[in-house]
Amino acid sequence: MSDEKKTLLIVEDDPGLQKQLKWSFEAYEVIIAGDRNEAITALRRHSPSVVTLDLGLPPDPANASEGLATLKEILTLSPETKVIVVTGNDDRDVAVQAVAMGAYDFYQKPVEMDTLNLIIERAFHLDDLEKENKRLSHKTDEPLDGMIAVSKPMLELARMVEKIAPSDVTTLLLGDSGTGKELLAKALHNLSSRNKEPFVAVNSAAIPENLLESELFGYEKGAFTGAVKQTKGKIEYADKGTFFLDEIGDLPMTLQSKLLRFLQERKIERIGGRSEIDVDIRIVCATHQNLQDLIAEGRFREDLYYRLSEMTINIPPLRKREGDAIVIATAFVKRFSEQQHKKIKGFTKEAAEVIENYQWPGNIRELENKVKRAVIMADGLHITVDDLELNKKNEDSSLPLNLKEVREVAETSAIKRALSYSNNNVSKTAKLLGVTRPTLYTLLNKYDIQVSGI
Ligand SMILES: Nc1ncnc2c1ncn2[C@@H]1O[C@H](COP(=O)(O)OP(=O)(O)OP(=O)(O)O)[C@@H](O)[C@H]1O
Ligand SMILES: [Mg+2]
Repeated sequence: MSDEKKTLLIVEDDPGLQKQLKWSFEAYEVIIAGDRNEAITALRRHSPSVVTLDLGLPPDPANASEGLATLKEILTLSPETKVIVVTGNDDRDVAVQAVAMGAYDFYQKPVEMDTLNLIIERAFHLDDLEKENKRLSHKTDEPLDGMIAVSKPMLELARMVEKIAPSDVTTLLLGDSGTGKELLAKALHNLSSRNKEPFVAVNSAAIPENLLESELFGYEKGAFTGAVKQTKGKIEYADKGTFFLDEIGDLPMTLQSKLLRFLQERKIERIGGRSEIDVDIRIVCATHQNLQDLIAEGRFREDLYYRLSEMTINIPPLRKREGDAIVIATAFVKRFSEQQHKKIKGFTKEAAEVIENYQWPGNIRELENKVKRAVIMADGLHITVDDLELNKKNEDSSLPLNLKEVREVAETSAIKRALSYSNNNVSKTAKLLGVTRPTLYTLLNKYDIQVSGI
């Protein structure tokens, strides 16, 4: 706490009393105001936490109306200010009225310094507590619903999301796997006026190319073999709401043109359809890929890129968010420990250090998986380094037996990491590793890696 004196504003029109009060409250930086105008100017200028306000102010000190109006103005401008109203000795009703309007306390003249001083001290104390509480709750807070963060880049990002959300601008989210792209897309939706309407997500990478078109645009009955009934596409389902197109970098060229046309005209045509349908959606898209590279390689349309990136949000990887890892990890411990009916309190000091120093290549998703596993494994009240199973860097520098061994170790670790990134989803894992599913199965067998769920 700083040694600076706290500011106390005294609103009092009696010059004698002004002097006396100023002298009595030397512990504070006292500002004196003689009427409503001066009071408001002082409030704006000094932002005092505590104000004493004489209700009998000019032009008619016998009538409390100017005092009450001043009180109202102070509380409108600065609702947290603690205002102690000072009234004439038989003005109890007015005092009660002032408290009902939001005054912190009242005090009846004649002024007795010790008592008034106690009331003022208590008001400052309460104000300190309130400010501290606010600071702490902010610290553990979620700057966006569901998004835990304390790091500067993420707090700035949260403010940006809050600003962008109410508008309809097409927004491109760029971030590595597990950084929270989908979470932010939902936040953009939830903070917009479309939040009562649908949020529809499509992952371009998860749907085979030949099905993606009908998934996005829908089809009419008989449009192709198997089109037994008219089916709406996801874009149409999102009408009036938000459409989240994930892994936009994987969108095939033919669909890129079709999407571009939609963005220009805001109309879709179902496959095999003859009429155009107006669709009103806000588009958010995301990718972990570098779209500039894809454009250079001729795999992504530049004109589509400009359409999609009216606003671009770069989501930093977890290792660049100072302080976030441990805060998020702690929140996850609480969540999973409740789910598992365990009573885990947190991490040992060593485990917390490991969490802070680890690079988290799979970002929050990896952190989530590691903590979930640790909560299940932990025997004690605190999660230990061993429970976390974060592969410590191979510090063993002895020469490996042979290349075959090096390969096996590297492959095993890559497979395990890919599995953890993709939540044990075999197709995604194979894709991440650049192998086919059958090859992945062969490798899982070879290294005897168990995957839950298959
Ligand atoms: N700041 C955060 N606080 C709390 N949970 C988070 C945060 N960021 C992400 N998460 C959680 O981490 C997981 C991964 O987030 P999300 O799915 O949004 O990431 P993504 O970038 O879309 O990942 P992927 O590339 O794997 O699709 C989700 O369960 C999400 O709720
Ligand atoms: Mg995602």
